[in-house]
Amino acid sequence: MEQINTIRTQALECVSKAQTLSELNDARVRYLGKKGEIQALMKEMKSLPKEEKPAFGAAVNELKQEVSQVIEERKIELEELEMNKKIENEKIDISLPGRQFKLGNKHPLRIVQEELEDLFVGLGYQVIEGNDIVNDEYCFERANIPKDHPARAMQDSLYIDPEWLLRTHTTAIQMAVLEESAPKLPIKVVCPGKVYRRDDDDATHSHQFMQMEGLVIAEKVTLADLKGTLEFMAKKLFGEDKKIRFRPSYFPFTEPSVEVDVTCHICNGKGCPTCKGTGWIEILGAGEVHPNVLKMAGYDPEKCNGFAFGVGIERVAMLKYGIDDIRHFYTNDQRFNDQFKRYE
Ligand code: PHE
Repeated sequence: MEQINTIRTQALECVSKAQTLSELNDARVRYLGKKGEIQALMKEMKSLPKEEKPAFGAAVNELKQEVSQVIEERKIELEELEMNKKIENEKIDISLPGRQFKLGNKHPLRIVQEELEDLFVGLGYQVIEGNDIVNDEYCFERANIPKDHPARAMQDSLYIDPEWLLRTHTTAIQMAVLEESAPKLPIKVVCPGKVYRRDDDDATHSHQFMQMEGLVIAEKVTLADLKGTLEFMAKKLFGEDKKIRFRPSYFPFTEPSVEVDVTCHICNGKGCPTCKGTGWIEILGAGEVHPNVLKMAGYDPEKCNGFAFGVGIERVAMLKYGIDDIRHFYTNDQRFNDQFKRYE
């Protein structure tokens, strides 16, 4: 009986000292295992006198149960402890500052394009886009520029095959809109997009740039309507104190044709190096849509007429933001692009 008590004391201490599940398992094997100390006590029972056997057996069984129970209890405690340790280790430190994401911003050409679109949508225009690749017919023929016309030389451009080319002006979209709309009236559209032509790349020229075409066809449209529309546009873009002026010009698809200037934003009309002393800066080409163009699209030029204009988006952006080289738009220098966040 004394031996049983000694083993009880040792076993209970051993279990309570176990700090991990594996230490606890060692204790279990040591006391409850097949070759363990309690099993060894059972074997000793054989050598006892017969009358002592029942009491001894009962005491060993009681010991076995007691040890099993404390092991079970300690196991639950240790499992909880290990779980807490695991949770502690996997904890995310939410006090760490997050990684900074760099937010992009709109490209200046996109800003100007959207400003122009908003302005014309406000006047009741629809925004229509076209394909970058067009055929000779829509780029030239329908724009009253037949095969042998000298005006082709200026835009003789990037052909994919003898029939198809990268559009040289957004006037190609105008021709498609006219054909699709005929004979419905009125038409009021603006058509933004990239255009491509053979050109020497320098500070003010690029072989690829953006235009926005405007087109209005109705029953009685006058040059005064064109002038009022463009003046409204110039004031919105460059400030209420700006004026525009028309200079006679030539485009095969308009008659009469004009070149449109806006008051120089640098000297406000007084004359400076930027405007070459004239006080004016050219911003676009425009005119009354040529009767031949209307006829080819299926309209009767006796019953309707209208105006068209083509404004260079880079040109507007350069004037608005004081950009001195068109190539800045395309080189994607982050230091350049970042500066337009505030205009979005
Ligand atoms: N298509 C002409 C150009 O690219 C611009 C323009 C458009 C002129 C519409 C008149 C009318 O230069």
